[in-house]
Amino acid sequence: MNWTPYYTGTGSVPEQPQQLPPPPPWRAPTGKTGATDAVPSSSPASTYQADPGLVDAVNAALHLRRPLLLTGPAGSGKSSVIEQIATELGLGSVLRWHITSRSTLADALYRYDALGRIHAYNLRAIGRPVASRGRVARRSTRSARDDIGDFVQLGPLGTALVPGRLPRALLIDEIDKSDLDLPSDLLDVLERGRFEIPELARHSKRHVTVRTADPGVRHEVEDGLVECEQFPVIVLTSNGERDFPAPFLRRCVRFDMPALTVSTLTSIVEAHLEKVEEDTTDALVNAFVDRLNRGENLAVDQLLSAVHLLRGSRVQDEEQRTRLQELLLQGLGRG
Ligand SMILES: Nc1ncnc2c1ncn2[C@@H]1O[C@H](COP(=O)(O)OP(=O)(O)O)[C@@H](O)[C@H]1O
Ligand SMILES: [Mg+2]
Repeated sequence: MNWTPYYTGTGSVPEQPQQLPPPPPWRAPTGKTGATDAVPSSSPASTYQADPGLVDAVNAALHLRRPLLLTGPAGSGKSSVIEQIATELGLGSVLRWHITSRSTLADALYRYDALGRIHAYNLRAIGRPVASRGRVARRSTRSARDDIGDFVQLGPLGTALVPGRLPRALLIDEIDKSDLDLPSDLLDVLERGRFEIPELARHSKRHVTVRTADPGVRHEVEDGLVECEQFPVIVLTSNGERDFPAPFLRRCVRFDMPALTVSTLTSIVEAHLEKVEEDTTDALVNAFVDRLNRGENLAVDQLLSAVHLLRGSRVQDEEQRTRLQELLLQGLGRG
């Protein structure tokens, strides 16, 4: 396949809408709607190349029922490994909590939409449908009872603590971006494996069915208490933007992602992309590792993008090749 300029920068309108080429395997939509049949399946579970030290760290964390804290630069594979762990252990879909400076422990446990509940109550009181006409009958029979459960939504951490036969896999991504107190607060919940929903604990009904972070799945909470049967399998990631308190570190199994080598990167590229004629992957990988060794901050996915576009004879014009390579492999600064 050759490099095709779909956008020409001239504003000319083609007779037919242009059909884009298949996306790189890792950019193919996973949902039903957008799936393209020409794209080979490429899930992190099947393409992830785990370092032997990482494998040991994961197993130590699994044995000890401790969270695994992965540190390392952006794009070193910290957030992807949990998919492979969950697949190998048959733990089902991974719950994800992406941390920002605004993240709170309370939101990750559950949210109670008090305003929504009052609004729904008022609408019922004046006899108007709550959601759609089709639901009116069901709603009006419900109106006699209190539906607080509709307004309690468990977050990713809350859902990970819902009791079940198997532990849930939970990614707590970029915890170094959090507010200072969050790691210690989190520790407290993880040590106990349970939390209370006060709004339900003081409610007249002992059993309330609430929404979870899994679409369409509900869970019955008794006396406002959610308590896990199995400690969740947790991977925490940090780009090293700050240090964590010692009590937090003590309770995690820690692993620093190793420096990337030519052989690791070559196997990562091979896992993601099929081999092609006139492969220029080696040259790209070597140049990439040289720059890493000089202390530049570059991510594996940048290399994958560059290999996807530039390998083989796709871009034949040398100058354009160099331009594209520079475009795709720009340093990331401090990350
Ligand atoms: N060891 C690896 N094996 C396979 N792919 C990897 C590996 N490390 C990184 N990648 C690729 O790089 C991308 C970025 O990895 P990610 O886990 O998001 O990095 P991080 O969380 O450290 O920033 C992933 O989507 C994956 O395609
Ligand atoms: Mg990440």
